[in-house]
Formats: sequence, structure tokens, C-alpha cells
Amino acid sequence: MNTEYPYVICLMMTSVDGKILGEKWGNSPKMNLLKETFEKVHEQIGIGAWIVGRTTMEKDFTDFEKPIIKKGHQEVDRLDFVADHKSSNFAIAIDGKGKLGWKEPILHGDHVISILSESVKDGYLAHLRDIGVSYVFAGKNEIELKIALKKLRNLFGIEKLMLEGGAHINGSFLNEGLINELHQIENDVLWITYKIN
Ligand SMILES: NC(=O)c1ccc[n+]([C@@H]2O[C@H](COP(=O)([O-])OP(=O)(O)OC[C@H]3O[C@@H](n4cnc5c(N)ncnc54)[C@H](OP(=O)(O)O)[C@@H]3O)[C@@H](O)[C@H]2O)c1
Repeated sequence: MNTEYPYVICLMMTSVDGKILGEKWGNSPKMNLLKETFEKVHEQIGIGAWIVGRTTMEKDFTDFEKPIIKKGHQEVDRLDFVADHKSSNFAIAIDGKGKLGWKEPILHGDHVISILSESVKDGYLAHLRDIGVSYVFAGKNEIELKIALKKLRNLFGIEKLMLEGGAHINGSFLNEGLINELHQIENDVLWITYKIN
């Protein structure tokens, strides 16, 4: 196991044919049971830090909130910003272009960390600092996941991380050999675990 990075557990709800878009599976009581099972497994695995791609964050958590760019002349160094938080639980977004709109530094009780590239606007960073959202830089224009993971471990002490989709970000982690375990929830009784690294 590589101790430079957090130990990564990927948790996903999938149908047996590999689909992950829950809204296409209808609204039957079984679907609600599946969602409840996902949350229960999340709690049972018990990792306080979770990370998702920009698309999942805006669709499932921030309700497509637009990014806020602070007005006026802003000059903000490209230095990582660890806000004054008291949390050991973290909600982390991979958002290289700074597209997510944040209004507060807490999401479902967890401190928000945004993984950014250096290409984001100064006014975007100024706003995140104002509201106390932490951010780290992990690449000039594109996100380099290994840099991001090292910083999550070193700056926030995150030793275990739950990767919760979507497909795009999971695939990027997998291709770089960064997933240690994969957990697939197929229904309320079938929970498949694969040990990878
Ligand atoms: N069934 C489940 O358990 C489950 C779990 C989670 C999500 N979902 C569903 O999955 C869907 C979203 O999945 P998705 O695959 O479209 O998007 P995603 O993986 O959530 O997000 C992908 C986005 O992340 C950003 N990104 C930055 N660096 C990246 C990198 N190195 N590799 C990959 N992405 C990077 C990019 O944003 P930019 O384009 O801004 O650069 C990219 O478009 C949603 O419908 C969600 O509800 C299902």
C-alpha cells in the first residue's frame, strides 16, 4: 500500500449491467431501498472523507449553483488554502475549472475542500477564502490526481478516502492505480467487494 496517498475505497450503486444513473431506474420502492442501502453502507464503512467529480457534486449536492466571482480587483496567490475548520469529516470536489458554486463551507456536516487547477479566476478564490471553503491546487490546467491525494493526506490528515463517483472520476482514479477497494451495491442484499491494491 502506498502511504503517500490516502487509502481509497470506491463505493458505487450499479445495476448488474454496469449502469450508474439511478434516475433511469424508475421510482419503485426498491429504488428507495437501494438508496437507503447505499447510505447505510457509506455509514458502515465509516470513512469521514468523501470525494466526487464536479458533475456529481453539482447534480447531486449543490443543485447546479453557479460559481460566485468576487467583484473588484482581486489578486490571489496560487497557494493552497486550509480554512480554519474544526472538522475531521470532509466533502471534497474535483473541480479543476472552478465551476461549482459554493455558499458555505459545510456540506452535510462535512468541511468542503475543492481541488482546483491554477487556471481558476482570482475572484473565485477570493470568494472561497471569504466563506471559508478550503482549496488545494493540483495542476496548472488539468487535475493531477496524485498531487491532489498527497495534499489531502498532508494538509488535512486524510488517511482513508471514500470515492463516490461518477464514472468519469472513478475511471481516472482506476487508470492511475489509485483505488484500493471497490464496493458495488447492486440491491439491498447484494454488496460486492473487490480488493485491488
Ligand atoms: N450510481 C452511483 O453510485 C453514482 C455515484 C455518483 C454519481 N453518480 C452519477 O454519475 C453522474 C456523473 O458522472 P460523470 O462521469 O458524468 O461525472 P463525474 O465523474 O462526477 O465528474 C467528472 C468531472 O470531474 C472533473 N474532473 C477534473 N479532473 C478530472 C479527472 N482527472 N478525471 C475525471 N474528471 C475530472 C471534470 O469536470 P470539468 O468538466 O468541469 O473539468 C469532469 O467532467 C451523475 O449523474 C451522478 O448522479 C452515480
